Amino acid sequence: MKFFLDTANVKEIERINRLGLVDGITTNPSIIAKEGRGFKEVIQEICGMVKGPVSAEVVGLSVGEMLEEAHAIAEWADNVVIKLPMTENGLEACNRLSQEGIKTNVTLVFSAAQGLMAAKAGAAYISPFVGRLDDIGADGLQLVRDLKTILINYSYKTEIITASVRTLSHLAEAALAGADIATIPGSALPSMWKHPLTDIGIEKFLKDWESVPKL
Ligand code: G3P
Repeated sequence: MKFFLDTANVKEIERINRLGLVDGITTNPSIIAKEGRGFKEVIQEICGMVKGPVSAEVVGLSVGEMLEEAHAIAEWADNVVIKLPMTENGLEACNRLSQEGIKTNVTLVFSAAQGLMAAKAGAAYISPFVGRLDDIGADGLQLVRDLKTILINYSYKTEIITASVRTLSHLAEAALAGADIATIPGSALPSMWKHPLTDIGIEKFLKDWESVPKL
């Protein structure tokens, strides 16, 4: 399973990259806004830090605006991927860009039908938002399972990015569902490699070690 970091914070990326856990990056306008830096500057810096795909989202709502932004962003780096919203215009832009060989990530996917349509329109990636579905009482991980079945049924090459990941169980369940990728907030991932029993275990080993004669 590939791990993407859902962040535009270069310190978070550096820290987790050192562990070999970063296969790519996803951003959105809210994530970019948090950094207080220019969009192009931060995306280019991140593209230079990781080998894998880096998603940068358009903000225009018309097809023309999306394509204009997408063409500009696609020039910023070889590994940049254009993130498009799951709307009628987003699907048209996705179709046009995929025909030009520009990779897209269709985001804000909340139903299996939306994901299927994005795959059919040529999306390289689709991003179901599991946490936001759970927030409204739906089952976000069930959407990931359904999308996986659909993509296998029709041999689509589109990869599933499990997004809006908030918990350890989101990550584990996404892996069990066969999601290609989970994108995890850079601030949340460090808490996911921790376990209280690991810390207690280390403490006990070190305590017991004190009684071993140091020859
Ligand atoms: O990748 C999408 C993600 O950034 C949304 O996460 O926590 O804002 O629902 P969240």
